[in-house]
Amino acid sequence: MLARLGFKWETAVSGNSSKAKITLKALTALKAKGERFACVTAYDATFAEIASNAGIEVLLVGDSLGMVIQGHDSTLPVTMQDILYHLEAVKRGNAGALIMGDMPFMSYYSEGLTLDNAAQLLRAGAHIVKLEGGRWIAESTRLLVERGIPVCAHMGLTPQSVNRLGGFRVQGRDPEQAQTILDEAVYLEQAGASLLLLEAIPQQLAERITQRLQIPVIGIGAGKHVDGQIMVMHDLLGITPPDIKVPKFVKNFLADSRSGIRGAFEAYARAVKDRSFPGPEHSY
Ligand code: KIV
Repeated sequence: MLARLGFKWETAVSGNSSKAKITLKALTALKAKGERFACVTAYDATFAEIASNAGIEVLLVGDSLGMVIQGHDSTLPVTMQDILYHLEAVKRGNAGALIMGDMPFMSYYSEGLTLDNAAQLLRAGAHIVKLEGGRWIAESTRLLVERGIPVCAHMGLTPQSVNRLGGFRVQGRDPEQAQTILDEAVYLEQAGASLLLLEAIPQQLAERITQRLQIPVIGIGAGKHVDGQIMVMHDLLGITPPDIKVPKFVKNFLADSRSGIRGAFEAYARAVKDRSFPGPEHSY
């Protein structure tokens, strides 16, 4: 009877969160099979619907919204309230992707704050939270994972540390720094991280890390040997605000799309899966 009424059993049993058809287990299975997956940032319901229906597995409500939505020159001004607002919109539009919620700058500096803020992200629709940092986020990772909150560790170029790094620069170019990134990635996996995101590092280093870890590794400016790729939505559509320097790992998928924005998202997902993106011209 319920089926005849077109009743969505999955949605009925546990509300909106059951819309997530892509799970962390599914991403790990893709890695085991050597298959690639696609991720993109999303900030509202419309684009979340388009991206998730285009075959993109992961939607990140990233603090990049500080730059591409709010017009700041870094991600530092982004607050928990900002992330929560956009996360709730993305949850409404999502058609089955895994939703990752970013922990903004200074939202995980103490145990209590980390737990409260991560819990808020999960209540608002995230299935996993992302924290930037190396070894120093291992304690927070353990704390969250023990309480049932999965963690993605973001390493390499970590934009919340832009002032310490002296700009948005490629990381891990010298052998000593590369070894530190590799060691810390292993450490974070052991601390319980479910995913690792590597930003702007040489592709050989990303390849070593991806081979070494059991957990799926997502790259942006990390070459083609990682398990998944992520792009900022505005970069994928070639509409990045003019005052933001577009890095070499960006490709405009709208330029060649014959079916507009939907076609661009589909082309991106396809290119990641058939490994035609990123090419050598997008890698360090
Ligand atoms: O905030 C964000 O959008 C990110 C991506 C650049 C990976 O962290």
